[in-house]
Amino acid sequence: MSAFAYRNGELHAEGVPLSDIAARYGTPCYVYSRAAFEAAFDEYSTAFAGTRHLICYAMKANSNLAVLDLFARLGCGFDIVSGGELARVLAVGGDPAKVVYSGVGKTEAEMEQALAAGIRCFNVESAAELDRLDAVAGRVGRRAPVSLRVNPDVDPHTHPYIATGLKESKFGIAYQDALALYRRAATLPNLDIRGVDMHIGSQITEVEPYREAATRILELVDALRAEGIALAHVDLGGGLGIRYRDEHPLRVAEYAQMVRSLFAGRSETLVFEPGRRLVGAGGILLTRVLYLKPGTPKGFAIVDAAMNDLVRPSLYDAWHPVDAVRPRTGDVHPWDIVGPICESGDFLARDRHLALAADDLIAIGAAGAYGLAMSSNYNSRPRACEVLVDERDTHLVRRRESVSDLFAHESVLPRDRAPIT
Ligand code: LLP
Repeated sequence: MSAFAYRNGELHAEGVPLSDIAARYGTPCYVYSRAAFEAAFDEYSTAFAGTRHLICYAMKANSNLAVLDLFARLGCGFDIVSGGELARVLAVGGDPAKVVYSGVGKTEAEMEQALAAGIRCFNVESAAELDRLDAVAGRVGRRAPVSLRVNPDVDPHTHPYIATGLKESKFGIAYQDALALYRRAATLPNLDIRGVDMHIGSQITEVEPYREAATRILELVDALRAEGIALAHVDLGGGLGIRYRDEHPLRVAEYAQMVRSLFAGRSETLVFEPGRRLVGAGGILLTRVLYLKPGTPKGFAIVDAAMNDLVRPSLYDAWHPVDAVRPRTGDVHPWDIVGPICESGDFLARDRHLALAADDLIAIGAAGAYGLAMSSNYNSRPRACEVLVDERDTHLVRRRESVSDLFAHESVLPRDRAPIT
């Protein structure tokens, strides 16, 4: 059952009516379901039960401390892409030995921070990064655990902005260069080769691209072993899609079956980096209709959330479900659901057939991943608050920003400058 369902004519988050949340915390507001997050993690870990594996939540999808804490309590590791993300993991007492560090642009300071924390592995994305990491590790007197992120050049059939495994992509090391780079890594004094890593893209709904990519990666693992370079783990990345509209996302069990059959009889530990799949369906963006601007062929429902709160529709033309919190009977009209921002691209949904009135509450669905995490303060709009629902309890896990928060780091020029003569 979905964590967001209608009861007595009103959409609830678990046991809490969304209108209660709006009354207590205001709108716009991200609302998350603990049960949904935990069920998503459980689906992944059950699918791989009995295999040696580590799930590293790709926390870029939703890095709220309360969310990280929930996953850490379940024994989950983390896939990070910055020193800021590592600091968040450590702030909730997450285990650095379960952290893998991805990303094409790690700075020396970030490398030092991650070495000091004792992370599990750096997913290295270029020859230049490999040299830099070796030098930094030597300087601080530690050995850096490394995987190379290898680009298997497979088309994941997803939006071009979120496909990462094609050879045109900035990510990873070209497949044909990987063997030589591993050989070189093996000669560098301050590196420990631990594994190999891939991540072919996001919102993937088919199993075949994964099978193709993982097969290529295993060929590389075997070629390395033949040369005496043994890998302890294979990181298959994340990318499993969710249902936004009418997609039929791959079941984790189906994905796991493919992985289990490819890895049957092998000894490597499996590492996964799911982001969206763990948190996407467990969140909504709650917003209120400010004004209706009826018109033909369609009207505009102007709501108090905007592209700064949820940029996916504007950035990727992404389709998110839209539901009235208390659906009304009455005339249904096509509406574009738009925000107050001064851009034509500021829309959350287009051409939705709904019966609406001013002050109605609306839930933008499947917004738990890449929602608040990608939000901004454009138009000097304070970021929304975040509420985590746990059965009948609500917890404010991020307060709404105040306007003074927005300019707290700014300053003006001194007033005492001599006039120009
Ligand atoms: N691992 C790596 C190295 C990644 O770059 C990503 C996502 C993930 C794991 C997690 O992918 P997921 O399981 O969430 O698909 N902002 C876009 C998605 C960008 C994904 C970036 N990398 C969106 O809103 O659709």
